[in-house]
Amino acid sequence: MLVDKTRVQLCHGRTPLEFLPNLTRSLGGPNIFIKRDDCSGFATGGNKGRKLEYLVADAIAKGATHLLTTGAVQSNHVRQTAAAAAKMGLRCLALLEDKVDVPTDAYQHNGNRLLTDIFGSEVKTYPAGTNMAEVVQQQVSILQMRGFVPYVVPMGGSTAVGNLGYVSCAEELMAQAKEQGFDIDHLVVTTGSGGTHAGLLAGLLALKSKTRLTGISIMGTHQGQTDLVKRQTAETLELIGAGDSYDPGAVRVEDGYVGASYGIPTDAGLAAISRLAREEAILLDPVYTGKAMSGLIDLVEQGRFAKSDNIVFLHTGGYVGLFAYADTFLK
Ligand SMILES: Cc1ncc(COP(=O)(O)O)c(C=O)c1O
Repeated sequence: MLVDKTRVQLCHGRTPLEFLPNLTRSLGGPNIFIKRDDCSGFATGGNKGRKLEYLVADAIAKGATHLLTTGAVQSNHVRQTAAAAAKMGLRCLALLEDKVDVPTDAYQHNGNRLLTDIFGSEVKTYPAGTNMAEVVQQQVSILQMRGFVPYVVPMGGSTAVGNLGYVSCAEELMAQAKEQGFDIDHLVVTTGSGGTHAGLLAGLLALKSKTRLTGISIMGTHQGQTDLVKRQTAETLELIGAGDSYDPGAVRVEDGYVGASYGIPTDAGLAAISRLAREEAILLDPVYTGKAMSGLIDLVEQGRFAKSDNIVFLHTGGYVGLFAYADTFLK
């Protein structure tokens, strides 16, 4: 086992690795598989559950009374952090920056925002452009003055500790592919705050795997995202004692699928959502996985993979966001 750090159990265990026959057929190959982290079994699923298992264990070890985190109004990460706090008997303070220009009632009140309330988190919302690092510091001080012990979960849970969840996922995935009797040539994942990408890459490098990992950016530029993932991969490898496996050349990022900006749906992303729903009965989301799947489909159509390749798309969840963007689909 690559990771021997303490974790709490939030997710059910291994998530399924499934073949997508209809998408594979309609694209005319390569073979497309999906790793279902949308089915983690924790608070409607998604990639933050694996990270939070390690982050919450760290928080508890430090005597935390509160999890404090930040994100956009429709953050999946904030929703899952609120749920993790609820399950572990901690309090959650969510500091939301209203930075995505979707001025609908559904965006402001439904989807992840609604579930964050239902999981019992306290929520404070700030206008776009607020210095959120300063806000976090202020709120930490206020809680400390009241005698509480806040634990800050950074945006997306992307720290070396959080990324351990995806080191374990890489190991789990490689074992599943072996059991199913195939080699994974390419793994494709959404990359945002970078930790899922970095954790997976750290796991693949530590395992000396030949699988090539590509992150489809939903936010950063090629340079910015590559630098972010490089730094986090190096830190994560250090934490598991495999620093000498680091290979900066293994960080691959595609940044052509972001569209206007983070959180603003693209036509190709919406088409990918409809396609996966109608061909495979799988729900993607408008902010992350829809854009990433549109990237995968485009790379296939550009002939970037051999027809005989086995490609795995890591589904990082997020379908709750569909309800926040209902107006986009009902147009
Ligand atoms: C559904 C979904 N997919 C992908 C990501 C990106 O993961 P990371 O922030 O680790 O890059 C997020 C982050 O919030 C997410 O909510």
